[in-house]
Order: sequence, then structure tokens, then C-alpha cells
Amino acid sequence: MKPEATPQGIVAGSIPLFAGHPSRELLPVDDLQRIISAGWAGRGVGRYLNYGDEQGDSQLIDFLVERFNRNETLGISRENLMIIGGSTGGVGMITQQLTRPGDAVLVDAPSYRDALHIFRDHRLEICPVPIDDDGLVVSDLARMLRRLAAAGKAPRFYYVVPNFQNPSGITMSRERRGAVIELSREYGFAIVEDDVYNDIRFGGPLPPSFYELAGGENVLRLGSFSKTLAPGLRIGWLIASAERVRRFVDSGMLRMGGGANPFSAAVVADYCRSDAWEGHVEWLRGQYRRRRDVALAALDASMPAGVDWTRPAGGYFIWLRLPQSVGVDELEARAQARNVYFASGKGFFVDPVAGAHHLRLSFSFLPRVELQAGIEILGGLIAQITA
Ligand SMILES: Cc1ncc(COP(=O)(O)O)c(C=O)c1O
Repeated sequence: MKPEATPQGIVAGSIPLFAGHPSRELLPVDDLQRIISAGWAGRGVGRYLNYGDEQGDSQLIDFLVERFNRNETLGISRENLMIIGGSTGGVGMITQQLTRPGDAVLVDAPSYRDALHIFRDHRLEICPVPIDDDGLVVSDLARMLRRLAAAGKAPRFYYVVPNFQNPSGITMSRERRGAVIELSREYGFAIVEDDVYNDIRFGGPLPPSFYELAGGENVLRLGSFSKTLAPGLRIGWLIASAERVRRFVDSGMLRMGGGANPFSAAVVADYCRSDAWEGHVEWLRGQYRRRRDVALAALDASMPAGVDWTRPAGGYFIWLRLPQSVGVDELEARAQARNVYFASGKGFFVDPVAGAHHLRLSFSFLPRVELQAGIEILGGLIAQITA
């Protein structure tokens, strides 16, 4: 009999090293309960249960604008920011408005699996460009752009997860960001910057965002409360030029629906305005950093020679490259027989064959003991296959 699976696809009793979301104890349940109860008692009912403004909850917009201007000297105003149904809702909205079927878009290789899924849904030509430890390889991007131009094509946008990328954990360097912006100006494509891991950083400051480096020109920057509060709230934000924000806000979807998830947005606004969020983010960083350290120590201790992996300074993920003699399909089958589940590298490439020797491990979900145990089992299985 097939073992029971939870809504996130987690098989009961298994070690889900693939699960890229927070575990139960990392969600601020009591604080949210308190905020919601107080909200009901105050001006909540109208605000919580009715249609909202098309641009999103105005208190949340004000909070985020002030935070970005304080922390990043971004110099934005409320016309530059709108509330969206999670970063995913933003990627869908942008793709719908900026592309037609058959248009080309640029992505990293590997790139975030679910963004690739959205681009496939829209029947786009997805053009992958390799990354290395500093992010996108600019010479390969230039080659891809020349090739597309020779075929009479201009990509509509470049989709990038600039910080602690999903799946690799890699952060793109400032120099590379600058070089990509120059090429975007030369070839006229937009940059869609999906920055959901920005706040989950364990070390020093990050390079400036594409949005900041480009002075806001032709960059659409997405963020989310999924990684720093709770993914079930489905609340994120988009920062872009005032004209672009106006066009998105004027879409039929937002006009009819009264803004993105008004109930959740009002709860998030109340939570943030209670000053609870910054402390929670700081606490989360410590929790995730410890899990990252446990995972890296377990990899150091149990992986046989020939396996390489990234050492992310934030985010949720570690990316492994297996020796050529170890196929990810065989490892996956053997791991599942031992009740260990990881994300195969194949889903993160436009051509799955490119990921046939890669896999993604997540350290966001599992407590220390299971994280260690799962990685030890994987190390043992790889050693068996290579023996
Ligand atoms: C790069 C990236 N973008 C977006 C998301 C989803 O964000 P949201 O829950 O805000 O839709 C994830 C979650 O795994 C992600 O890794």
C-alpha cells in the first residue's frame, strides 16, 4: 500500500529533504492568533472580510515602502509598490502581461522549478543560461542574446533569483548584476528579480538589488512573506516603475477581486505594524543558520569523494553534484526505498538531462536529527553505487 502523503507531498514517517518550506515550529502561530483576535475586536470585520484596494492593503504598502527606504535606501514611493498573492502570483501576473505564446524568456540553468512551470504554461520559449559560483555566466548570456537576435528574436525578460538561489543557494555578485543590466539595456529586455530569500541571510550584507543598481529602470522586483512569516498567507509584493504598477493594478483580475488576498494582507499589515516581524526574522535567521550548519557538517562527514556541494550563506537550499558514475534517478529510487526524499536536479533545468547528476537538499524543514540521518543515508547510498 502506498504510504499516506500530507498536502505538501510529504510521505508520513519519511525524511523529506526536498521540503522547501518552514517547519511547524518556525511559524509564529501564537502571535498571529493574538493579532487576528485583536483585529476582530477593533476595526477588523470590515477590513478583514470585505474587498480591498486594488493596489493592496494600504497600511502594508506604507510599512514596506518605509522599510525598503530605511534598509536599502531604495528611494521608492507608494506608487512603486503593490501587494500580490505571493511571489508566485507576481510571476504569473508579469508573465501574463509581458509575454505572448512563443516569446523568448531567459532563465538561469538551473532555475526555480515552479517558475519554469509558469513559463511553460504560457507556452514561452525558455532560454537557459548557465550559472557558476558567482551567478549567471555573462559571456554565455551574451552568446545566447546574439543567437536569439540572429533568429530575429528579442527576449521579453530575464527571470532571476539573485540571492540564495533556488535550487543552488548561490548569490549573484554585484559585478555580474551590473553586466546583466548593461546587456538588458542593449537588448531591451526586462529583469524579473524574484528576491524571496533576501531576509534569510546568515552573514554580511548582500549586493545591491538589480532594482537599485538599475535605478529602477526596467526591473520588476518581487518579495514575499512566505519565507519570513507563513507561506499559507499567500502575500508578497512587487516593486516596479509607477507606470508598470499602475498597469498591473488596472488589470481585470485586481479590479474585480479587490486587491490580492485582502484578509491575509490586513493580518500581515497588523502583524508587521506590531513590530513583531523584525524580531521574528532575526530569530528565523538563527534557526535556519543552525540547520544549514548541521546539513553542511553532515555532508562533510558522510559524502564520498567526487561529490560537490554549495555552501550557501542564506536561504533554504544546498545543491549537490554527483560523480558521473551516479545517476540521480538511481539514487532517488534507492533513497526512496530507505524513506528519504530529495528534489532531483532534473526538474530545475529546461532540458531535464542537464540535471541527471544533480540534486537539491533543503534545510528549512527538518530538525537536526532527521537532517543528519537523511544526509548520512544519502552518503552511504552514493558510496554503494560508486563502489
Ligand atoms: C525562488 C522562489 N520564488 C517564489 C517562491 C514562492 O513564493 P510565494 O510563496 O511567495 O509564492 C519560492 C518558494 O519556494 C521560491 O523558492
